[in-house]
Amino acid sequence: MSTKPTLKQALVGGVSLALALSLGACSGNRGGGDEAGDSNGGARIGVAMPTQQSERWIADGENVKSQLEALGYEVDLQYANDDIATQVSQIENMINAGAEALVIASIDGTTLTGVLETAESQDIPVIAYDRLINESDTVDYYTTFDNYEVGVQQGTSLLTGLGVLDENGTDTGQTGPFNVELFAGSPDDNNATFFWEGAMDTLQPYLDKGILKVPSGQTDFQQAAILRWLPDTAQDRMEDLLTVGNGQQIDGVLSPYDGLSIGIISALRSGGYTEENLPVITGQDAEVGSVQSIVNDEQYSTIFKDVRELGKRAVVMVDDLMKGEEPEVNDEETYDNGVKVVPSYLLESQIVTKDNYKEVLLESGYYEQSDLD
Ligand code: BGC
Repeated sequence: MSTKPTLKQALVGGVSLALALSLGACSGNRGGGDEAGDSNGGARIGVAMPTQQSERWIADGENVKSQLEALGYEVDLQYANDDIATQVSQIENMINAGAEALVIASIDGTTLTGVLETAESQDIPVIAYDRLINESDTVDYYTTFDNYEVGVQQGTSLLTGLGVLDENGTDTGQTGPFNVELFAGSPDDNNATFFWEGAMDTLQPYLDKGILKVPSGQTDFQQAAILRWLPDTAQDRMEDLLTVGNGQQIDGVLSPYDGLSIGIISALRSGGYTEENLPVITGQDAEVGSVQSIVNDEQYSTIFKDVRELGKRAVVMVDDLMKGEEPEVNDEETYDNGVKVVPSYLLESQIVTKDNYKEVLLESGYYEQSDLD
């Protein structure tokens, strides 16, 4: 049995994970208790999250909050309803209310330069959470998953689902041709291009050989991108693609996020597809509705990113910074935000299909079976 809390347990209190963290968290901080063995003196930490429209961000926010609180910090957690101006003003308010560090999952990675200058002028460290903040030298650290690898996994699972690769990733010799359509994430989210590049580098050789074909001809990131990751926009685009493709059967859809996959499946169902002939559809985040969809043979795969681990990493970074220590990183090359290469800690992700969801999501304690019923 796993010693990790389930996602639900983490949401309601952070329990064992937070307790484990608190064991190593007794020293002082920049703003609060300063003596060795002192608590963190209630230093205030601002946590800015993009939206509550997706389960994963709710889990991220609650994880970070409960783990910081378990270490004695006071947490100001805000969700910005995917509105850039709201996020900017939330961060301004956090600074005005005395935040001593900021953890930010941005909506648009380029829009925070101004408000972060205020943070810098007050010596407030900034950690970019999952999404890189671009065009700012104020970002001190970044924690995320290996986003290029997430894209590779999405491309790979599309090929596996189509039978072009076997479960070991070896070419099966299948020549298709298979009709696929391609979706990308929000163009203002730095991660979206990493996912796209990882996926396209994986699919391109098969497009070049004619094993994969794109009936719409829409193979550019800009054509495939879905602003703000909105499921309805993906649904509309998929409806259009069915028309553009002149009724050709679609065999696969590269989708970079479970929410988009839900919109895509709706469009396909309206277009007459059923479980019998729905294409192979990918995803990301292992959200409950999409795991159920995988179990029900609609969506083919998702990418599991353990946000319990991401939250823990962000909390350790904050705590290190508050104690005047340098946070551990494992990548100092990849994430150039246009002004600097941001020292990063990258976590690993995993492909999930109907074949391994029990092992990956249930045995790890991320979900309980009852969450999926
Ligand atoms: C995250 C993904 C998520 C997407 C939409 C990205 O920045 O890395 O996990 O699917 O945003 O919320």
